[in-house]
Amino acid sequence: MAQNSYEKPDFWTQKAKKEGYPARSVYKLDEIDQKFKLIKKHMHILDVGAAPGSWSLWVLRKFETLHDDSILVSVDLSDLAIPKDKPNFHFFQGDIFSPEVQEQLASFRPYDLILSDAAPATTGNSTVDTSRSEELVHCVLELGNQFLRKGGTLVCKFFIGGGQQELLNQAKKMFKTARTYKPEACRTSSFETYLIAQSKI
Ligand SMILES: C[S@@+](CC[C@H](N)C(=O)[O-])C[C@H]1O[C@@H](n2cnc3c(N)ncnc32)[C@H](O)[C@@H]1O
Repeated sequence: MAQNSYEKPDFWTQKAKKEGYPARSVYKLDEIDQKFKLIKKHMHILDVGAAPGSWSLWVLRKFETLHDDSILVSVDLSDLAIPKDKPNFHFFQGDIFSPEVQEQLASFRPYDLILSDAAPATTGNSTVDTSRSEELVHCVLELGNQFLRKGGTLVCKFFIGGGQQELLNQAKKMFKTARTYKPEACRTSSFETYLIAQSKI
């Protein structure tokens, strides 16, 4: 049976493989960073929904290019497929909704930047998938509320659907600016986009 275009290794997948990243999603973060200039020196960064680890690896490589002493804390239900042996890198395997996991993440606050590419395992039913994605976004916004320093930034994936305006309104109450942005590296068929919320009040 012929592969459909979603399954074929595309340009971004091949580029990721060549550059040593476990997933093509890294180029979404690269594009978001180019546009919004997220990563600076001396930061505490939290990466939510980090597995298999492309975003985390990209951040760690960025720290190296900046000769930086920043700290990256990552969390996911699944283990990472990247080395975890750097002293400024802390990984927690667990559920972001769990109070125990949140307590572990809290020990590194305040964060300057929270990144979330977390997504529920999709069912194919867009109503179910969108509502699960919304629950994740609400949880990440709450982490932003508790963990981000004043002036901090939050980047969070969500699925386009019914609750989009409400999420945006909630973010606008917490940050000076909040907007959505869909990087070109997102699959054209995908209904994901990113909330970019800057300057926590
Ligand atoms: C699209 S992947 C992230 C890819 C990652 N940014 C990278 O570049 O490798 C979405 C991740 O969200 C994680 N996830 C979903 N629900 C979660 C939860 N409740 N707690 C922690 N991680 C969760 C999944 O396990 C999955 O690994």
